[in-house]
Amino acid sequence: MYTQALDLPPTDSAALASAPSSAAIPFDPRAASGQSHFDAMMDADGKIEPQDWMPSAYRKTLVRQISQHAHSEIIGMQPEGNWIASAPSLKRKAILIAKVQDEGGHGLYLYSAAETLGTSRDQMLDALHTAKAKYSSIFNYPTPEWADVGVIGWLVDGAAIMNQIPLCRCTYGPYARAMIRICKEESFHQRQGFESLMTQMQGTPEQRQMVQNAVNRWWWPVLAMFGPPDTDSPNSAETTRWGIKRISNDDLRQRFVDATVPQAKILGVTLPDPDLKLDEATGKHAYGPIDWDEFWAVVKGKGPCNQERLTRRVSAHEEGQWVRDAAQAYAAKQRARNQVRAEMEAA
Ligand SMILES: [Fe+2]
Ligand SMILES: [Fe+2]
Repeated sequence: MYTQALDLPPTDSAALASAPSSAAIPFDPRAASGQSHFDAMMDADGKIEPQDWMPSAYRKTLVRQISQHAHSEIIGMQPEGNWIASAPSLKRKAILIAKVQDEGGHGLYLYSAAETLGTSRDQMLDALHTAKAKYSSIFNYPTPEWADVGVIGWLVDGAAIMNQIPLCRCTYGPYARAMIRICKEESFHQRQGFESLMTQMQGTPEQRQMVQNAVNRWWWPVLAMFGPPDTDSPNSAETTRWGIKRISNDDLRQRFVDATVPQAKILGVTLPDPDLKLDEATGKHAYGPIDWDEFWAVVKGKGPCNQERLTRRVSAHEEGQWVRDAAQAYAAKQRARNQVRAEMEAA
């Protein structure tokens, strides 16, 4: 996923604490000309690479956004992962395992991209595990029924694609390149979710009702996933100038609603919004008010599953310590062997 275009004001954003301070960035004697190079690159919509000079605010914003995105991918493995053992067929189980594994991979690409900005993976994980860093609030909702898995694919991955396609053109090279592959995989995720729901909708009345119930649960949190209204997003002008955010939260949300309404019709489900209505003149759908109080409550840790997600994440990390130890021991052994070989060849 899953950025949620979450422009937290600095005082409210503990995630900023995990970003490197400008003091941590080595002094660059070319900095004076660096700014003009950077500005020229922004004007030309070019790419900034890790070795290039960049303003510290650009670096901080990227570290916050990319690490938040990585955390969302990793935490996002949980609500669907909970269904792997209970998937209704071998085919669905294989698809679900592959999808959850893809999300883990997305997290790893993104942690790698963020590391190129000078922050370590340990720092980022520490911020996540101590609840200083945010992740997409959508993953703090539960998946009580099998249909929730299909709805996550259709709606949550669908919203993610809408949000993330513009990031493939982000001015920061490593992020943009990671997003190209991620978007291809998200597209598969969205289609498998829709196909799974389509199959369930051709089943029994109970199965159809299960799908409708899941749509009712997820619709509003998914609309909130695009982040606060544009009037409430203080950082948007700067991130737009930097080519990090190219389409506003409200515009992305509108595109998502307009794309999803016809899909819901094909599926045969009702979107739970009595105010949802097509404006014939514009071709856009009007929709009802989003409960922003609920959104902020979930962002601030009071969602139905915040505690469960974090506890599970921390224990998975602790249980994986032996794997990291083994990988490091192996790498050290390889280095020692290579050194001995190099010395023998030199002798
Ligand atoms: Fe993903
Ligand atoms: Fe996905």
